[in-house]
Amino acid sequence: MLNIDLSGRRALVAGVADDGGFGFAIAKALAEAGASVCVGTWPPALNIFLNLLERGKMDESRRLSDGSLLEFEKIYPLDAVFDTYEDIPTELRENKRYRDVGDCSINGLASAIVADFGERPLDIVVHSLANGPEVKKPLLDTSRAGYLAALSASAYSLVSMVARLGPLMRPGGAFSSLTYMASERVIPGYGGGMSSAKAALESDTRLLAFEAGRRFGVRVNTVSAGPYASRAASAIGIIGRMVEYVGKNAPLTDHLLAEEVGTATAFLCSPLASGITGTTVYVDKGFHAMGMAVEEAGER
Ligand SMILES: NC(=O)c1ccc[n+]([C@@H]2O[C@H](COP(=O)([O-])OP(=O)(O)OC[C@H]3O[C@@H](n4cnc5c(N)ncnc54)[C@H](O)[C@@H]3O)[C@@H](O)[C@H]2O)c1
Repeated sequence: MLNIDLSGRRALVAGVADDGGFGFAIAKALAEAGASVCVGTWPPALNIFLNLLERGKMDESRRLSDGSLLEFEKIYPLDAVFDTYEDIPTELRENKRYRDVGDCSINGLASAIVADFGERPLDIVVHSLANGPEVKKPLLDTSRAGYLAALSASAYSLVSMVARLGPLMRPGGAFSSLTYMASERVIPGYGGGMSSAKAALESDTRLLAFEAGRRFGVRVNTVSAGPYASRAASAIGIIGRMVEYVGKNAPLTDHLLAEEVGTATAFLCSPLASGITGTTVYVDKGFHAMGMAVEEAGER
């Protein structure tokens, strides 16, 4: 039988702070395949996440097929807009959400992983995070600061993670990230420079695949997921309508499950996908292939 077997491998999933998004589903799929899974969590969301875990509020969703609960080998604080500790403004370092977490920069994460597990302890890194403070604003009304913040949190963060975590990867390692079709087609309402950030992320995926392939021997891919009502997506404000529209117009009409993104990502990060790098893989029920709304075409 052809199985996804990740036993003996270690994954880091950056961007998990509850059980409602793609990061959690990916972590669970990787664990189902036998990987040990560490996560990176944004400091403002860290305490709530730890509380939810401690109080057993996520036990249902943590249940694996063998009956055990998904355990995170380590939960690292991570603010992916900072590359080094020096980049974190003093004011923020003293903020109550940050002052006890130490160096939550990408560099700090890399150092902590080496301190915990040694020089080359990683096989899989998943970037499942994004932030666009002005996402509800049309691009025309987006400030320079808002646009650059979206690019910084949602696109450059991948470049920085590949640069800093690439050297920690064992041979055959794989990076994966999450993107959205607003990078290449107009999705009214997905503003604030987030569409630009996803376009950058997809372009960077190709160049990073080349550079990191040559430099570290790792693969870099991105999954273009269909709309899904996670916490982050709910902040866009129109996610319900986006999900409904895709349900009506995609080749497959059942709504996308986070598990489907989880299993596709586990495949992409597994040895079964050893020949795949630099690609954008659509996990969107086929919606990207459509050129006309079903109702407009008179189809059912
Ligand atoms: N939900 C969708 O409809 C959809 C569709 C396509 C792609 N995506 C992408 O999937 C990825 C995961 O998002 P999701 O929808 O599962 O929501 P989510 O809320 O589960 O994940 C987003 C995570 O990013 C974290 N984050 C925000 N800023 C951060 C920072 N500076 N440093 C570290 N972490 C930070 C948040 O704490 C959160 O845990 C994102 O890249 C998103 O753009 C989502």
